[in-house]
Amino acid sequence: MFENLKEQPADKILALMQAFRDDPRDTKIDLGVGVYKDATGKTPIFRAIKEAEKRWWGEEQTKAYTGLGGDPAYADALAGLVLGDAVPRANIAAVATPGGTGACRQGFDMIRMASPDGRVFVSNPTWPNHLSILKHMAMEMVPYRYFDDDTRGVDFGGMMEDLKAAKAGDVILLHGCCHNPTGANLNITQWQAVIDLLIETGATPMIDIAYQGFGDGLDADAAATRLVASSVPECLIAASCSKNFGIYRDRAGLLMAVSNDPAKHKVTQGTLAYLNRQNYSFPPDHGARLVTLVLNDDALRADWQAELEEIRLSMLGLRDQLANELRRLSGSDRFGFIAQHRGMFSRFGATPEQVESLRRDHGIYMVGDSRVNIAGLNKDSVPILADAVIKVGV
Ligand code: LMR
Repeated sequence: MFENLKEQPADKILALMQAFRDDPRDTKIDLGVGVYKDATGKTPIFRAIKEAEKRWWGEEQTKAYTGLGGDPAYADALAGLVLGDAVPRANIAAVATPGGTGACRQGFDMIRMASPDGRVFVSNPTWPNHLSILKHMAMEMVPYRYFDDDTRGVDFGGMMEDLKAAKAGDVILLHGCCHNPTGANLNITQWQAVIDLLIETGATPMIDIAYQGFGDGLDADAAATRLVASSVPECLIAASCSKNFGIYRDRAGLLMAVSNDPAKHKVTQGTLAYLNRQNYSFPPDHGARLVTLVLNDDALRADWQAELEEIRLSMLGLRDQLANELRRLSGSDRFGFIAQHRGMFSRFGATPEQVESLRRDHGIYMVGDSRVNIAGLNKDSVPILADAVIKVGV
């Protein structure tokens, strides 16, 4: 039967990661996959995570199964980090998932159960894997305008116009902060207008928040998610710990289904647990355990926050350095958007040919839509990138 299988399209980001590994040039620069690298090019383990791991090694007495939703203490801790006290804990059904991707996948599965004919509105562009998973699940997608190629900011007028077509039973997928792949984000007034529209149309928001703490700070980055969750009757939230706790390969995520009707809690929580059981049974525990330990210990939490803040500030510094360098080389302000964008990524607006030339002639790897991982840069590679960007004619 395997003869019936067809070759599947390669994931663009992961294919690029492989192409980078295969490139023998030692001057190559990886600005592809969304992984933070420090000034020496390493992806470090957070100090607090390492310490939690040591402690847990001493304390752990069993590897027996946890619950289907993972340890409730993890859900409490991460729901607290994302939502603060914006909604009562009793209104949040939550299960641990394998990373943020797992949370997205489970969220889409729940949408399909709750609203089989529902369409999912996706920003144009969005993280390619959103599209790939939705397509794999045969769910109907409706793109909405998001990125303005001229200003490299949000096309808010276009976005609102397109979202007006949503109705009750549809889902609007939003990025809580640090939009991937563009780096262009809504301000809080615009978020409020989106909320008003959600209430008017009756559509349900699903928020993917994978970069909390990488943009304007832990609370500022969660502000929009908190506002949405406290304003609409129901929403889904897919949170990831891959980046802000640096535990990419340990796969820790959380799917939350928030409802302002406590009577729905039991069935919502049960549905999420059921979906975990159908798709992979128990979620991985190790990464979630470390996150719980860090968030529930004052000293570890403070140290983690301090390190995360250093990373955030270093990315902002790199953005400023790159924008300044490009201002100098181009004699114009047309790259000023780099300093305005937030999070790991910025979409440069280079053509596919320019992206290809950057890779072929300069050993600089970015995703084909010209998404640059700012966190893959350092002080020395910024001028090299700026120089190449001007040389290829961006
Ligand atoms: C990215 O967008 O590069 C990251 O979210 C990693 C991934 O899985 O694609």
